[in-house]
Amino acid sequence: MIRKARNLPLEQLVCLDSQRRIEILSENVVRVVFTGGMEEEPSAAVTGAAETVPGLNVRLENGRLRIQTGRLQILADETFHIDFFTADGRPLSEEYRKMRIPPYREPSSAEEFASWEGHEQPVSRENANWRFQCVRKLYDNDCIYGLGDKTGFLNKRGYAYEMWNTDNADPHEDNFRALYKSMPFFTVLGDAGAYGIFFDNHRRTFFDMGKENDGYYAFGSDEGVLDYYFIYGPTLPEILERYTALTGRMPLPPLWALGYHQSRWGYETEDEIRSIAETMRSCRVPCDCIHFDIDYMDHFKVFTWNQERYRDGKKLLADLKQDGFKAVAIIDPGVKAQPGYRVFDEGETNGYFAATPSGETYVNAVWPGDAAFPDFGNPDVRAWWGDQHRFLINMGIDGVWDDMNEPASFHGPLPDEIVFSDEERRVTHAEIHNIYGHNMTRSTYEGWKRLSGKRPFVLTRACYCGSQRYTAAWTGDNHSIWSHLRLGVVQLCNLGLSGMAFCGTDVGGFGSDTTPELLTRWVQVGCFSPFFRNHSAKGTKNQEPWRFGEPTLTINRKYVELRYRWIPYLYDQFRLASLKGWPVMRPLAFHYPSDPEARQINDAFLLGENVLVSPVLEQGARKKLVYLPEGVWYDYWTGAREEGSRWLVREAPLDVCPVYIRSGTILPTWPVRQWIDPALETELVLEVFGPNASCVHYQDGGERFDYENGAFNLYRFRTDERGTVSTERENCGCEPYRTVTTGRIVL
Ligand code: GLC
Repeated sequence: MIRKARNLPLEQLVCLDSQRRIEILSENVVRVVFTGGMEEEPSAAVTGAAETVPGLNVRLENGRLRIQTGRLQILADETFHIDFFTADGRPLSEEYRKMRIPPYREPSSAEEFASWEGHEQPVSRENANWRFQCVRKLYDNDCIYGLGDKTGFLNKRGYAYEMWNTDNADPHEDNFRALYKSMPFFTVLGDAGAYGIFFDNHRRTFFDMGKENDGYYAFGSDEGVLDYYFIYGPTLPEILERYTALTGRMPLPPLWALGYHQSRWGYETEDEIRSIAETMRSCRVPCDCIHFDIDYMDHFKVFTWNQERYRDGKKLLADLKQDGFKAVAIIDPGVKAQPGYRVFDEGETNGYFAATPSGETYVNAVWPGDAAFPDFGNPDVRAWWGDQHRFLINMGIDGVWDDMNEPASFHGPLPDEIVFSDEERRVTHAEIHNIYGHNMTRSTYEGWKRLSGKRPFVLTRACYCGSQRYTAAWTGDNHSIWSHLRLGVVQLCNLGLSGMAFCGTDVGGFGSDTTPELLTRWVQVGCFSPFFRNHSAKGTKNQEPWRFGEPTLTINRKYVELRYRWIPYLYDQFRLASLKGWPVMRPLAFHYPSDPEARQINDAFLLGENVLVSPVLEQGARKKLVYLPEGVWYDYWTGAREEGSRWLVREAPLDVCPVYIRSGTILPTWPVRQWIDPALETELVLEVFGPNASCVHYQDGGERFDYENGAFNLYRFRTDERGTVSTERENCGCEPYRTVTTGRIVL
């Protein structure tokens, strides 16, 4: 059955035969499908519809099909090789038509070497020909970004990856092929502009981004069909806008979720949580949220409370609330397989768990021991699971942390043949694996919204394209090692370029012991990351901001306070993510695509368009080599004016993270508070950098969906040559600021 795009006018559907077709979704977006005779599967990601394309021209020319949209020219030959050109004929992306050239290897040397070392040689799919694939040319200057949370550097050129959601506790290294998330979407930034490719196949898929050979990249799979979207830019912001029009955008999160979160696996008792909260306040490190890891549950049974160690949960949570803290509780998909336990019994009775081919509930092990896996692809299961969150809401919990949803399992991976649902179809684990986490977050988000009427906060480890509609994401179990601080910067940039604007790492590192210096430098990155949570594993050194005494505490406080002052600026970036799908944390290439230096920067990023953060990522370093792209920039700390398009060396003692503000910026700020309370924010303070500056600032109640009906304020601030501010109100839908004043003016 053909599953064509929604609303696709018939004249925009070009079928070459029953297996091959091109759908023109808009002037800039084209879908290519080759079924190879296989059944087409529904997309978990795509929610967008086609637009009409006026002036579309489709004709046959010397045996080739030529399609012109006004923005793109598409040529498809008789073998269904497809080339994309700009409207004026410059090649954007051409199919690679020659023989693939695998790298030369000494025959069998790899196996021999591995056996000397005593290792088993893993079966590698490197250089393999998959059942179907698309092989496209790489031009000299092409850089590749995206692909979710993959390891390596920002530019994915030269790496090979696999999309198979994987929980691997080993320290994540550059040669890892798969991690928790499957986001088969990437962008290629080349000389003729940028384009994106979204390979919408949630089976196990493979990506060779020029590792086999620098002259081409390839993506393919042994399962499902070849179904990809070519998304023309020419700029990265336009691609993100179009990609998220297709796969959905992040709804605005509750404002408190932008604050600092404190977490640790191993807060074993109520008293421990209380003492964390108290110390946070007595040390005056602002904090909005405490995370409850699996310790709060009764024997790791989801939707239960450990009354022995966490006693009266309602009282605890009410007291925390009094002191300005929200609470997020972890929920794992694995339901303890124990008759008599309500959640298990309900799931069993209704057939809501994944089953063996012979129809029994499939059991593997996770934290609670034997566990069954809810079948989130089934809409009834999603509704049922969503309803379970009533337990957390009644306790006083404010958000959910969906973990272990690759799904992870302790007694070996789930076998391929385990039976799940994909909406109305019965499917195997192999088919559903990569969207298991996606469907879990969907169930959580929808349930929470239904039950509370508030903006849900959901955090996930596993996801697929489109999960931004339901959840924020973190990068899973990193370690307290410097290479993971560096890796986190590029992972977050690439997650942002994959549509996941709300993302963060475990600040300080999860596994292994952190050090005061590493924690300090990590907080300097974390406070500028979209999601800012310090989290660590049981058994490692505690790493709350005060654990190492001074100067660590003071420096932690300085950066967390900066975060709180900048919440209005940050929230403006979240609004852009919800309107256009733009990342909050962006690689320099996002705004400086034709700058060859900017395209390759791994150790700096932009927060929104106007703030450049170039953190120190090396132990012992007290200077940072900073690249400033074109234009004029102001050193945030000293106000020094710097010309861009050059490298400079910035002194960076332990308490300094180099930050630069683009000339022409107005930064909206709030006074420092210990937690976010939109009702208290009656004063906006504008910091002005450079002459003729401007900003559009958004304000709302921060908790509900009333903004969708206009309950928000939109201000446009401008300054003249001397920094004098003028204000226009573009929308007046809620209580405005009582005062708007100008703080710092740097000219
Ligand atoms: C997983 C999560 C981690 C959590 C732990 C215990 O390893 O990734 O964040 O602390 O489980 O729940």
